[in-house]
Amino acid sequence: MGRLDGKVAVVTGGSSGIGEASARLFHAEGASLVIADIRDDRGEALARELGPRASYVHCDVSTEADVKAAVDHALARFGGLDVMFNNAGIAGAVGGVEEVTVEAFDRTLAVNLRGVFLGVKHAAPTMKRRGRGSIINTASVAGIRAGYGNHVYSAAKAAVIQFTRSVAMELGEHGVRVNCVLPGFIPTPMIGLARGLSAEEAEEKLRVVEEAFTGAQPIRGPGAPVDVARAALWLASDDSAFVNGHALVVDGGASGGRMWSTYQEAVVGLEERLRERTL
Ligand code: NAI
Repeated sequence: MGRLDGKVAVVTGGSSGIGEASARLFHAEGASLVIADIRDDRGEALARELGPRASYVHCDVSTEADVKAAVDHALARFGGLDVMFNNAGIAGAVGGVEEVTVEAFDRTLAVNLRGVFLGVKHAAPTMKRRGRGSIINTASVAGIRAGYGNHVYSAAKAAVIQFTRSVAMELGEHGVRVNCVLPGFIPTPMIGLARGLSAEEAEEKLRVVEEAFTGAQPIRGPGAPVDVARAALWLASDDSAFVNGHALVVDGGASGGRMWSTYQEAVVGLEERLRERTL
């Protein structure tokens, strides 16, 4: 028996990375699935591969009509909506604060924050009517710690966390749970895309990102998109029935603090210097 048997899920950003891994896992666990993305080729191919319980819609999450249409598509095609995974995101504005243009600032918030807001807004009515549902938003450890992402991205993700908590207080009273996942260092095309690579190049160079992320956290990595997908699955399923307004960190401990080995190196170095002075 699957953990999402009989449920209908929409996954935004489902064509790639964490969204794709979640789409595959939700589907394998029995969900009927709408993949909503702007990468039509990959999203359509994935829906075809998964079969009749999956469907793809073109959806730019920063556009209200597109998000509403994705939810309507789930209702029309599969007869309901149980899980809304607002996962689409971009690294957006890169560089030091003086380099950030107003256009890049606005686009970063439009996808990463407005996109989440629109997903929650349009999933809410049908879920409230039925008195149940699980909404999951993708934030980031960059939303709770400085130095884990670019400035505007970090601000957007912090806003996603607080928006999640705030809305959970409203929708929880109607039986609808709202939670978020906070991934750490996960090798996906987003990392290369943020550095100016094309989508194809970003996928080809994933190995480079994996190597870079291997030692970035106490649990030896690299983490994988499916690690985040498993956390999202738990929030989507009835296993988390009493969890609402939660920010679930999935980062192998990256945001916990300084690694013990790094601390030890610093302390040993200091002890050696202190001994030198006393001799
Ligand atoms: P990815 O680049 O592999 O996947 C992102 C997906 O979102 C792509 O399929 C892309 O086409 C889609 N997308 C982009 N803009 C869109 C829009 N306007 N409308 C609809 N879809 C759009 O990247 P990844 O890493 O899987 O990102 C998924 C989420 O995870 C994002 O919200 C990201 O900020 C978040 N995240 C990722 C981390 C990482 O290390 N990879 C760390 C923390 C958070």
